[in-house]
Amino acid sequence: MKKLLCIALLLVLVLLALPALAQQAAPVLTYTEPYLLTLNPQSEMSVLWLTKEPCEGFVEYGPTPALGNRIEAQRHQIKGLRTSATPEGYDPDPAKNPEAQVYQLIAKIEGLDSGATVYYRVTTKNGADTQVGKRYFFNTAPQAGGSFDFALLSDMQMKVKTKETMHFLGQQEKDFILFAGDLSNTPWKVGEWFNYEGAYQVPAEADRSFFECFQQDGDNSRLMQYMPVFFCPGNHEVDDQRVMTDKTMAADDANWSWSVYMQLFRPLYPEQEHGVNGKRWYSVNYGDLHITSLNVHRWQSWDGFDYPGWITKDDISPDSPQVQWLNQDLSSATQKYKWVVMHWHMLNRGDDAWFPVSKAVADPKNPEKAIYPEGDYCWDVLRPLYEQHQVNAVNFGHSHVYERYLINGVNYIEAASIGNNYRATNDPYHPSGHMPVMEENAFRSVMVVRVDENGMNARGIQASVEANGVGYIGRVFDTFSIAK
Ligand SMILES: [Fe+2]
Ligand SMILES: [Fe+2]
Repeated sequence: MKKLLCIALLLVLVLLALPALAQQAAPVLTYTEPYLLTLNPQSEMSVLWLTKEPCEGFVEYGPTPALGNRIEAQRHQIKGLRTSATPEGYDPDPAKNPEAQVYQLIAKIEGLDSGATVYYRVTTKNGADTQVGKRYFFNTAPQAGGSFDFALLSDMQMKVKTKETMHFLGQQEKDFILFAGDLSNTPWKVGEWFNYEGAYQVPAEADRSFFECFQQDGDNSRLMQYMPVFFCPGNHEVDDQRVMTDKTMAADDANWSWSVYMQLFRPLYPEQEHGVNGKRWYSVNYGDLHITSLNVHRWQSWDGFDYPGWITKDDISPDSPQVQWLNQDLSSATQKYKWVVMHWHMLNRGDDAWFPVSKAVADPKNPEKAIYPEGDYCWDVLRPLYEQHQVNAVNFGHSHVYERYLINGVNYIEAASIGNNYRATNDPYHPSGHMPVMEENAFRSVMVVRVDENGMNARGIQASVEANGVGYIGRVFDTFSIAK
């Protein structure tokens, strides 16, 4: 009898353990949750996600949580991502680190209604293994006159408060994000994007990879799974960051490539021109707002170059393809509001961080010093176009501060006090003499913008309390409005 009882008990234990064993056996096929990109937010959305194997996948979607429609995903391989040479770290030469296996699935949903909420869910398949994702939703852009909300963001780069600030941003319930560049630090390092088994992570940055921060969805935080992000590239989107400090490498255009960034966000860059002067600009219309995303960033050598080694890639001289396109883009836009997103802080306090964007040559009177005979293309070429075409606002990043300028009707905003802060001293003003109407670097912050029947209204919101004790989380510290 005792024996029978023991066998029965054993059977019960095995039966109880079976579901757990089955769950354990199902492999996780994906590196990321889905993320959303589009150049036509009123009627189309691309759903993207990254997988470990060359998987198949599809997206189910519909106007209610019941979904109902299905579209197959296209597969790409992401080339150029590498894991660390050893568990202790990466070799500085990317080629000496093993290639990481990363695949990308993209399902493009078309024919959506404007101003609609769309529910969706991704499914990933690898042979007999199937992984069904969580259900998310997004909003399509409204028609002219409709209201919407968006947020500004830049310079995540795994900085100390990035994760917390992103989580706070996710709780603000926006429809899309404008991201002004510098996503990670070194694009080819796979561990900076997501957890990759065996890839080295700097201990302090272990849980701050790009997708970990940007896909937090606890406590009603809604980020990349719930809204399209309109990116522009920053200097940290160059694949091999050694060009910043190695003068010989920097001199050869072949060493400059933006391939990882452009592959990860492929639907924004259908031409996939990865090299110098490749097409890394686009525009989209979101309701009453025309958004222009530019490719403006330059490299500071810090101590890696002798003057006049400052370098500018990706031309914005007056006759360059990008500037000609910009002129055409802004003059043909008929939306009520116009907004430009670009990485380079064309207005910024700080003699360690601000330089003209044009070709540097040695000062004949002091060969150690660089001069810029062609001036600053941002100030002399972009600014007049912004004023002529009545751009309402330009947001940028790069120096990790909060500053806002208002010059001839154009707001210039660096809402980049996200993860850290590079404003340590009272740095000099822009050479034009313009001062920020607001600067606030005592805490991390986000800027959110609402467009509705009252016009366009922006708010800078405090996202942290630092050791200085200034303010409180949620406090509005800066506002500006643009009348309808
Ligand atoms: Fe930057
Ligand atoms: Fe940055």
